[in-house]
Amino acid sequence: MPSLENLSCPIDGADLLLEGRSLTCANNHSFDLAKTGYVNLLPVQNKRSKDPGDSKEMVLSRQTFLNQQHYFPIVDAIFASWPKQQLFSGVRILDAGCGEGYYLSHLGKAFDKHNILTDRIGLDISKWAVMSASKRDKEIGWIVGSNASLPVPDKRFDVILCLFGFPVFDEFSRALEDSGQLLLVESGPRHLIELREVLYERIHDYKPTYPDGIANFELQSEESKCFSFELQSQAQIQDLLSMTPHIHKASYEGKLAIQKIETMSITADIRLRWYRKKTGEK
Ligand SMILES: C[S@@+](CC[C@H](N)C(=O)[O-])C[C@H]1O[C@@H](n2cnc3c(N)ncnc32)[C@H](O)[C@@H]1O
Repeated sequence: MPSLENLSCPIDGADLLLEGRSLTCANNHSFDLAKTGYVNLLPVQNKRSKDPGDSKEMVLSRQTFLNQQHYFPIVDAIFASWPKQQLFSGVRILDAGCGEGYYLSHLGKAFDKHNILTDRIGLDISKWAVMSASKRDKEIGWIVGSNASLPVPDKRFDVILCLFGFPVFDEFSRALEDSGQLLLVESGPRHLIELREVLYERIHDYKPTYPDGIANFELQSEESKCFSFELQSQAQIQDLLSMTPHIHKASYEGKLAIQKIETMSITADIRLRWYRKKTGEK
């Protein structure tokens, strides 16, 4: 049974209890589990649009691309960089903006190989992403929800992962244990450079995020991981393009130029930064 324990009602913050296939709070707010086992804890009043987050098409492209395993080195890099103090059985992990669940699922397998039990929750604002994730891995608790208002009590997690996502640091700090750690994985300067060189006339200078640090967090470690992979067809190129923000940002001419290419060697350049919650913070 996936972990859907120790969650909070998104309407009033009361504890949620699993009764049959519903999560219910003391004030009778009730959230049914979907057939595939995920739960939607994003009330209509917390939605900024009717269908927030990644669309069904983007989720499908991301899943098709990730299942080709070109990004598996990122799973390895995350596991290799995992802080020693968070390598214990029962470690409680949230993947905040989990997409279709690729990383959280593969990380669980890496922990299993080392006989380390994990309590994993994947949360995303896109119901399409969570629906897809809930079919991928039944060992994980999957939630439709927002990083802006995590439906969990304070200090619910030991580790929060935010992989190419949208961090909300106050909320992450609240949901982390005092000794808890946050991993940010983001693009580095040469990430997908070959794709960008075709899409854009000019490549903008790289600007690192959070140059002045993050208020509630202390940087513990930082590393870059570069690797390359081959895309063997126009369909593979389109799957990669469709899961990146470039699908919306690039010009019509740029996208047309991409359509004429059949094979591409692509550089992945990512940055992994582990942060520790500052003591005394919420
Ligand atoms: C670039 S994708 C990354 C997905 C996944 N982490 C991965 O690397 O495969 C960003 C994800 O963040 C989700 N998202 C956007 N805003 C969010 C929010 N406020 N709370 C939670 N998820 C959000 C999107 O639906 C999308 O699945």
